[in-house]
Amino acid sequence: MYVQGGPVIPWKPGRVDGQPTDCPPDGRLPDGANPSPQHPRDVFYRMGFNDQEIVALIGAHTLGRCHTDRSGFDGPWTFSPTAFSNSYFVEILNRKWVDKNWKGPKQFVDKETGQLMMLPADVAFIKDSGFKKWVETYAKDEKKYFEDFAKAYQKLLELGVPYKEGTQELRFKVVSA
Ligand code: HEM
Repeated sequence: MYVQGGPVIPWKPGRVDGQPTDCPPDGRLPDGANPSPQHPRDVFYRMGFNDQEIVALIGAHTLGRCHTDRSGFDGPWTFSPTAFSNSYFVEILNRKWVDKNWKGPKQFVDKETGQLMMLPADVAFIKDSGFKKWVETYAKDEKKYFEDFAKAYQKLLELGVPYKEGTQELRFKVVSA
């Protein structure tokens, strides 16, 4: 997917392919159906991320959408799912989220248009005060969001990579609007 806008993200290549035996046990990835704020903490603290970094990372849900034939959930989080922005934070804070009336898994839709969605796991970020203060910060200040996202995402990309000495930092290309 070509993404419009967003921060420049420095990163270093070097992650190597693993073997089947390197696979962690099931259940270590975050679960969209889990509404507990403890759940993202269980997943991300063990990788060395704090609450601010976790919120910065989840803001990537400004991009893309859920698919019924993949996760079973349905719909985008924002009206501009191919442009990187702080819209995820603005939408989650300012809209009223109600249960989606359907046969699929429990998820939320925005009451006004019925076109946007939030996962039970997303809503945890406005229920918990330690997370919510960062949602509010990033909804107000897109520049700070871009800076913090770039740092947290670089950390995620480079986590545990056995770099060869002298590996150079690269930059993702940014397509301007
Ligand atoms: C609590 C943590 C997280 C949960 C529970 C979660 C859950 C999900 C779910 C259920 C989907 C829908 C998949 C589908 O149906 O196609 C999704 C999509 C997506 N997630 Fe997350 N996610 C989390 C963290 C992250 C992070 C850390 C990033 C990146 C930094 C991220 C980026 C994305 C993107 C870009 C999509 C859209 C993919 C597409 O359009 O095909 N998510 N996520």
